[in-house]
Amino acid sequence: MTITCIGHGYVGLVTAAVFADLGNTVWVVGRTPEKIENLKIGKAPFYEPGLEELVKRNVEAGRLLFTLDYKEAVVPSEIIFICVGTPPKSSGEADLTSVFAAAESIGKALVGYKVIVTKSTVPPGTNKKVAAIIEKAKPGGASFAIASVPEFLREGTAISDTLHPDRVVIGTTSKRAEELILELHKPIDGKSVLCNTETAELIKYASNSLLSTKISFANAIAFLSEKVGADAEKVLEGVGLDKRLGRSFLYPGVGYGGSCFPKDVKALIAIAADYGYNFSILKAVDEVNRDAVTRFIQKISSHFQDHLKGKTIAILGLSFKPDTDDMRDAPSVVVISTLVSGGAMVRAYDPVAMANAQNVLPEGIVYAKDAYEAAQGADAVIVLTEWNEFRQVDLVRLAKELKERVLFDGRNIYNPSRVKQLGFMYYGVGRM
Ligand SMILES: NC(=O)c1ccc[n+]([C@@H]2O[C@H](COP(=O)([O-])OP(=O)(O)OC[C@H]3O[C@@H](n4cnc5c(N)ncnc54)[C@H](O)[C@@H]3O)[C@@H](O)[C@H]2O)c1
Repeated sequence: MTITCIGHGYVGLVTAAVFADLGNTVWVVGRTPEKIENLKIGKAPFYEPGLEELVKRNVEAGRLLFTLDYKEAVVPSEIIFICVGTPPKSSGEADLTSVFAAAESIGKALVGYKVIVTKSTVPPGTNKKVAAIIEKAKPGGASFAIASVPEFLREGTAISDTLHPDRVVIGTTSKRAEELILELHKPIDGKSVLCNTETAELIKYASNSLLSTKISFANAIAFLSEKVGADAEKVLEGVGLDKRLGRSFLYPGVGYGGSCFPKDVKALIAIAADYGYNFSILKAVDEVNRDAVTRFIQKISSHFQDHLKGKTIAILGLSFKPDTDDMRDAPSVVVISTLVSGGAMVRAYDPVAMANAQNVLPEGIVYAKDAYEAAQGADAVIVLTEWNEFRQVDLVRLAKELKERVLFDGRNIYNPSRVKQLGFMYYGVGRM
């Protein structure tokens, strides 16, 4: 089949590369000439494990094609996926400008019959608006059906998530569109959930909001554990062994970040408000998440008796989670900005996110070549992202590099008793 992905971000490029690898011809439409030229030689605009190899292989095979021209891609395609960003407005609502702009450009380029699928995360009712925009823009004689197929991939494991999703949600009222989408997804695992567009749109927000709720719940339990002298990791292990609950996403830390959870929780609160519903659970989820990072910063400040001026702090991990260079809404931004404004000197290291970090972090930060260089002469080390590299760090060597053996473990990746045996003062989340 020939298909098109509009947008070459985490969703668009991964979807395109995976479907090309499955034997389809895939066009990708972008709007930045330099990025399109780089993609044509197999260079991805962001880091995702395995992606660059996949892109290169399929570019060389002639199955993965890039263009700035909607017509070139849309005309030969049977299915067109809209994979553009839907960032939050200051009100929390999703900004749909890019989705609507893409819909209009698709409409103008339409010939024959096409299925237009929105993969971007959009509020219920958006697909109907997309249909109206295309209807108005399309030339006479062209026809189309719309569908909502929300994306559930996770950055860091995006390729295998796309090949082996838990489910493929297909929201459409068109039988012809549903059959075509099912045919394309035949080689992909995962149960199909067939529904209308509004249901599909809401499934995506409900999923991300419930995952965020689990994280905030774990953080609330961690806070309470510190007060009552419990070990939050053990509490959550005990809770998670109940098969009805499970352990996934019940891990305390400095809070969730990234381009999806914070924005989707806020967007669902805004969607609910539009229909007169006060989504109080999600308001609390958002508040607990903000508190998680604030409380972590307070631990650091009180260790230094509110005197950060002149202290050198090593930071391990900048991206919002491991195996990605995505800095969108990363807790590291809040933590580091607070340290720097308090007068601390920051030495940071991240395996892949340092280039992106430099665009969003304050000036004056020293970027180190590894964890040991970051730790040189530091008064404390703070772990903000649970990269495997940090789990396996040589703590004895790290201790030798530090001026003071103080460790703030924002992801609870170390065994507190082992770390304390090495002479560290240890601060975890929800445990002593
Ligand atoms: N990143 C994730 O992990 C993830 C997972 C599931 C769903 N989503 C959702 O998928 C959508 C895309 O997310 P992302 O992380 O890939 O975003 P992104 O910011 O990485 O990429 C967006 C892409 O859209 C392009 N674009 C914007 N307007 C365009 C236009 N008019 N024509 C052509 N290209 C255009 C941008 O240039 C960019 O390549 C969002 O709605 C997001 O919420 C993201």
